[in-house]
Order: sequence, then structure tokens, then C-alpha cells
Amino acid sequence: MRIVSGIQPTGNLHLGNYLGAIRNWVAMQDEWTAKGATCLYFLADLHAISMPHNPADLAASTRDMVAALVACGIDPDRSILFNQAQVAAHAELQWLLAGTARMGWLNRMTQWKDKAGKNREGASVALFTYPVLQAADVLLYQATHVPVGEDQKQHLELARDIAQKFNADFASDDAPVFTLPAPIIPPQAARIMSLRDGTAKMSKSDASDQSRINLTDDADTIMQKVKKARTDPEPLPHEPAGLADRAEARNLVGIYAALTGRDVASVLTEFGGQGFGRFKPALGDLLVDRLAPIAARYRALREDRAALDAILSAGAHKARDAAQPTLDAAYAALGLVRAVG
Ligand code: TYM
Repeated sequence: MRIVSGIQPTGNLHLGNYLGAIRNWVAMQDEWTAKGATCLYFLADLHAISMPHNPADLAASTRDMVAALVACGIDPDRSILFNQAQVAAHAELQWLLAGTARMGWLNRMTQWKDKAGKNREGASVALFTYPVLQAADVLLYQATHVPVGEDQKQHLELARDIAQKFNADFASDDAPVFTLPAPIIPPQAARIMSLRDGTAKMSKSDASDQSRINLTDDADTIMQKVKKARTDPEPLPHEPAGLADRAEARNLVGIYAALTGRDVASVLTEFGGQGFGRFKPALGDLLVDRLAPIAARYRALREDRAALDAILSAGAHKARDAAQPTLDAAYAALGLVRAVG
């Protein structure tokens, strides 16, 4: 069993990243490495250059994100934690897969359509080929399971399509080059929405900081953001069906459920009939309670830049070793001659 996933080191880690993905990374690490599985978690810094960026900010955010992931519970002794830029095999395999990925497949990617918007001519080539690099990220390690939020599902399906076509075109049925990876999406909190707009996902790229809870927000900021979160004037319903047309209420109840490990029905049994004047302070307290220890660990870890660099360097070393057999197999399958040694 190989568990692989990545996060872009741009901006802060927010509640959507945490509940949609990182919490699952930690849970899978805790459950499966003890049984012999390998977990590889990386910072997708190569993906981050697909959008306009400031190099100094990217370097600082990369180290900050290592601190944040360790603060959340990723243990560099049990999981391989690294950044793509130190493992050249990611960029190499991307090119080897570029002959297999089809323009039509990439054209259908909703993230490409959203991020390029009306200005496709002006978008970077990297933004278009982004999902091919993402496919390389997981196929390189023969990933079997990829814990992600709902928004990455389409990219994972593309990775499967690429793997399947490559295997069919260049490998025999009994010796495929790539394993088909399965997305692992949490039943609760797969898509945390903005606090300002229940129809937009919580995102690092939202211009308003009020739209998200950052894992580094202090208690006052969290309380204030929750109290200002957009809602409607109705009390909470007694049944989940009553949330169907109430995106903002559904989001807040979903966050409460995910943080307590309960389902939405059970949260509504407790809060049904009550207004947001009661529910919001309870949610704010819960968030502060769950996030404060992470924020404290994060603040301490981010001070030690040498230690963070050492984590990345050791992780990259292990990742390079893990990647090599698949990279070699992909070159060979394509008939690319390399003098070894
Ligand atoms: P990124 O950096 O946008 O997000 C990291 C993880 O957080 C999840 N996520 C959310 N989950 C629930 N609600 C939200 N509002 C929310 N926002 C983000 C994402 O689904 C993701 O799991 N392309 C990827 C990074 C990547 C990757 C990979 C992931 C590169 N290569 C290979 C998996 C495997 C991205 O930009 O995620």
C-alpha cells in the first residue's frame, strides 16, 4: 500500500485543507505505516509556479508549510515529507507522460477552466499541463491511495486515464508500468465552503481573509470570523434535509460535524431549533479548541529554518530512491535509450 498526496505551498494552510485532506493524511499515516505501508506527502512547489508568483514568498511559504504539516501531525520519521523541486523525477516523468495525455482530456479539467477564465491565451502552459505533473506525482510512487478533497477528484481520474493508456500502449498486461491510484475523499468535509459565500469553496486564493479560517489564526480572529460568517435568519432545522437549500448553514454545521467526528443528523439533534446566535459561539469555541494546539506547535516549529530544511532534504533523499524504479521502467517502456552508470 502506497499513500501519496500533495499540497501547494502558497498562502496559509486553511480549514478546508485540514478537514478535506491533511487530517486524513495524518490518520492514514497513523494507521497504515505501522502495518508496513509507505506514506509520501509533498509540497507541490512545482505546481505553484503555474500561476504568477513571487519567488521569495514561495521559498518562505514552502518552509512554513513544512512546519504546518508537522504541527498537524505529519511525522517525518514515519512519512516521507519533501518538496517536488528536490526530486527531479517528478518533472522528468511529467514529460514522459505528456506523450500519453490528450489535449481533449486537459481541456475538460474544471480547474483549468476556472483558473484560466476568459484569458486562455494568456494563461501559462504550466497551468494547462498541471494535471499531467499531478499524475506524475502519484504514478511515480505506484500510489494506491491518494487522500484529497473533492476538488481534486477530477485530476485523480485523469491520472488513472493516463496510467491506463500508458500501460495499454507501452506495457504488457501482466507487467503494467503504473498502478491505478484511488482517491480517498472524506465522507464529511470533502468540500468546505467560504465563510462569505456558501457556493464558493474555501480557498487560499480568495482575496478576502474573512472567507477562510487559517490554521494560524488566533482565538479572537477565529471567533470574529465565525461570528461574521454569512448565514440566513432562520433557526437550524431538526433534520439534514432542512439544510438542502441553505448552503451557508450546511457548511457551518458540516464543519461542526467534521471537527467532532459526528454526523450532521446528530449535530442537528443538539442544535435544531436554535438560531445562529447560539450555534456560532459553540462552533467558534470548538474551532479554537481544536486549532489552538496546532497553531502553537506551528509557531514554534517555523522558527527553526535549518530543521525544516533538514526535514525536506532527508525526505527528498528517500523520495528519490522510491521514485527511481518506476522512472527507469517508464523510460525503458518508451524505448528511450539511457547509458546507465
Ligand atoms: P491544494 O493545495 O489546493 O489543496 C490541498 C488539499 O486540500 C484540499 N482542499 C479542500 N478540501 C476541502 N474543502 C476545501 N475548501 C479545500 N480546499 C483544498 C484539496 O482537495 C487537496 O487535497 N493540485 C493539488 C496539489 C497536488 C496533489 C498532487 C494532490 C499536486 N500534486 C498529487 C494530490 C496528489 C492542489 O492544488 O491542492
